[in-house]
Amino acid sequence: MRGIRTVLAATTMLAGIGAASATDLEVTHWWTSGGEAAAVKVFADAFNATGNNWVDGAIAGGGNARPIIISRITGGDPMGATQLNTGRDAEDLVKAGLMTDLTELAEKEGWADFIRPAKLLDSCRFEGKIYCVPVNIHSFQWMWMNRGVYEDNGLAVPTNWTEFVASAPALREKGVIPLAVGGEPWQINGMSGVFMVALGGVDLYRQINAQKSAEAAASPEMTEVFEAISAARGMVDDGFVGRAWNDAANMVITGKAGAQIMGDWAQGEFSVAGLTAGKEYDCLPGLGMHPALDTGGDAFYFPKPADDNPEIVKAQLEMASMLVSKEVQVNFNLKKGSLPIRGDIDLAAANACMQKGLVILENPDNILPSGEQTWSSDTQGQFEDLWVEFFNDPGMSVDEAQERFVEIVENAD
Ligand code: GAL
Repeated sequence: MRGIRTVLAATTMLAGIGAASATDLEVTHWWTSGGEAAAVKVFADAFNATGNNWVDGAIAGGGNARPIIISRITGGDPMGATQLNTGRDAEDLVKAGLMTDLTELAEKEGWADFIRPAKLLDSCRFEGKIYCVPVNIHSFQWMWMNRGVYEDNGLAVPTNWTEFVASAPALREKGVIPLAVGGEPWQINGMSGVFMVALGGVDLYRQINAQKSAEAAASPEMTEVFEAISAARGMVDDGFVGRAWNDAANMVITGKAGAQIMGDWAQGEFSVAGLTAGKEYDCLPGLGMHPALDTGGDAFYFPKPADDNPEIVKAQLEMASMLVSKEVQVNFNLKKGSLPIRGDIDLAAANACMQKGLVILENPDNILPSGEQTWSSDTQGQFEDLWVEFFNDPGMSVDEAQERFVEIVENAD
């Protein structure tokens, strides 16, 4: 039924922007896990329902996909549309005038009236024009736990990081890996950001990730965060280096591990595995310590067609309109495990974890800046390299790591 409603919604929406003309649009993204693929199918089906044709260009892994996408656009071989993170990923491409201007459509449809928080759309603006469409809100500050692993071993399901750490040895004795981690740089970097807010507090997180304060980066509170990350090394298995995030999620889903610190896209995997939030798995926003969430996520950009083909531009605008439509926003985000960019839709079908996220985000004091919207890609790369080296090398002292951390913050652009 829902699929038909999507088709009807898309068709209705088309009537508002003129008759459809069938155009192929190659769409690049890095959504290749089970949950991500289920979500991207919602977009593809809805775009095809407009009479155009979604040509899927999936590239596994954000760390691989991002440079390929950017180099194709700068190299004159642009795709029709691409997913990137909401933030500064495409900053240089927009400044170089390589992206289709969406301002007229955005103003006609009133995007600024329903996209919230406003900073999502602000991340798409350059010199008063709009060059991307935010499609979801993702937050990294979550921990996902397999409830059965604790209950079957006579252990209380942790309600916060402190309880999780206390129960780790007992779990390990039962042959269960306490913490499932994927060793890719962005994963270790994301996990460190979660510790910063969960253990360091919202003020510390904001001072570093919004004000770029080197003083906060050098503070004793930040030293405690480094010490907690150092302690977390003892909760993982040896096979974490290079592990994909969804493989780590699968360890929790199958009970090989007790928990994973990962963005809320992880619950797309739990959903595809047929698990129910609050039943087989549970979720701790802010690790149950400081339930605050960043509002990162994804946005779609539309590179100008190499030959300025107006049919491509028309199809790009039809896709942009589809992506923010109410029906598609609900269907996509429920599959993706993210929150919608619209504040004017009914999310009754949201699961218990998404409902926790919605309640947290109702209070602006709980909304954190996201790394992609604060730091340049280059600075983010430096953070990732530092965190990977620190997490992988027990011989690297907290002092040495924190000194390098302060230096990166001081020189950040
Ligand atoms: C993030 C992206 C999410 C999620 C994750 C793992 O950068 O915003 O949508 O898919 O990568 O692939």
